[in-house]
Amino acid sequence: MKLWGGRFLKNSADELTRFSRSISFDTRLGPYETRVLGAWADELFAAGYLNDSEKKSIKSVLKTVEDEIIHGTFVPEDEDEDIHTAIERRVINEIGQTGGKLRLGRSRNDLVATDTRLLVMTELECIHELLLSLEKTILSKAKEVKDIIIPGHTHLQPAQPVLLSHVLLSFAWMLERDRKRITFARNRADSMPLGSGALAGTSIEIDRERLAHKLGFSELSENSVDAVSDRDFVSDALYALAMIMIHLSRIAEQFVLWYTEEFSTAKLDEEWCTGSSIMPQKKNPDIPELVRGKSGRVIGDLVSILVLMKGLPFAYNRDMQEDKERLFDAIDTASSSVSVMKKVIEATNFDKESATRVLRRGYICATDLADYLAKKGVDFSTAHELVGEIVKYCESERKQFESLTIPELKKFSELFEDDALLALDPHACVEARKARGGTAPDEVERQIGQLEKNLVDIEGPVC
Ligand code: ARG
Repeated sequence: MKLWGGRFLKNSADELTRFSRSISFDTRLGPYETRVLGAWADELFAAGYLNDSEKKSIKSVLKTVEDEIIHGTFVPEDEDEDIHTAIERRVINEIGQTGGKLRLGRSRNDLVATDTRLLVMTELECIHELLLSLEKTILSKAKEVKDIIIPGHTHLQPAQPVLLSHVLLSFAWMLERDRKRITFARNRADSMPLGSGALAGTSIEIDRERLAHKLGFSELSENSVDAVSDRDFVSDALYALAMIMIHLSRIAEQFVLWYTEEFSTAKLDEEWCTGSSIMPQKKNPDIPELVRGKSGRVIGDLVSILVLMKGLPFAYNRDMQEDKERLFDAIDTASSSVSVMKKVIEATNFDKESATRVLRRGYICATDLADYLAKKGVDFSTAHELVGEIVKYCESERKQFESLTIPELKKFSELFEDDALLALDPHACVEARKARGGTAPDEVERQIGQLEKNLVDIEGPVC
């Protein structure tokens, strides 16, 4: 069936039909559409355009169609351009031309915007749940490894010792911001365009507030021209999803490094590793690598939408049909990536012994040795120079800090006393960083408490 054509003398070219069809992907809007149309039927009834039995028969077909779409048994016809057409065709097939009354006062333009907003609200609520669950996994891992110190890196060079839990918790704080962004994006979608018609509004006496309430929207769009062509909420959702993927990609990269022989910090359980077709010894972390790779897709999805919208004249333009595949792709990619990263982290075993072994390399307590001198009154720039000399000496002697003796240290400064060796102990270095947000065990404990509180303050599951 076609929703238009009365004024045409010619049939559409087959290629036009093929090129413009969106039913292969927009069927995903179907379950939202049937709800929206059901609520619209109630309004048409309230306004006197449908009688009770017409309304009931329309709603009963809509229910059947909704079940079929959910169970994957809904069969579109070749002529159905999109899901909106397919549902209307089906309603008319089942109950005759009474079904045609359902189109009164609205257009596919306000319908598609309404359906898409409902989908975004639901999907983002689910992604929020998934993030929450990932955060909880990170938190419990951080609690398990509280006694492991690892070399922290900047520029991927050994920098200062940190608690492994501190690094893991940094991932949880990234996800805390992601949850806020997702909630923000979900709320941006929460405004009902229905009743905007094609662009100018509707002449039917509907109660938009009642309609919004029924559909679960808390706000109404204020301008029909804006409402049918506003896809800011899609960009907001995609930005929030792209940020999640950027964070997951960085987390994935960190785990990939930790699994290497060079870092020797962690091992990934075999269930989550893959092998090589040529190198029998290999165990590869393909899953975090794929998450890292898939981040590019979602960033691309965001860029596509921004470019899609740039330069569109008001109001609806068919270009906007292109928003759906990008949106759905970003939702599916981000959801599955959050979910697998949770499994990967659960399947990661940190190895205290080998992590401690790598701690000895890289002079990572150098800052603390300089702090030691500075705390005794040497200005920090001189202390920095002096410790630089000590590092140079160790390199030429091929020794690590921990094998330095007090007499050796005294050659660089008389201020070094017995307690100087303490400054070279990674435990003491970690312990010393007590200022709020630092890696000291008490501070890490405080963060755990704070995150636990944030995670508890959330309502029950929505998915
Ligand atoms: N398939 C279209 C979309 O997704 C539905 C709206 C069509 N409106 C129109 N005026 N042709 O955007």
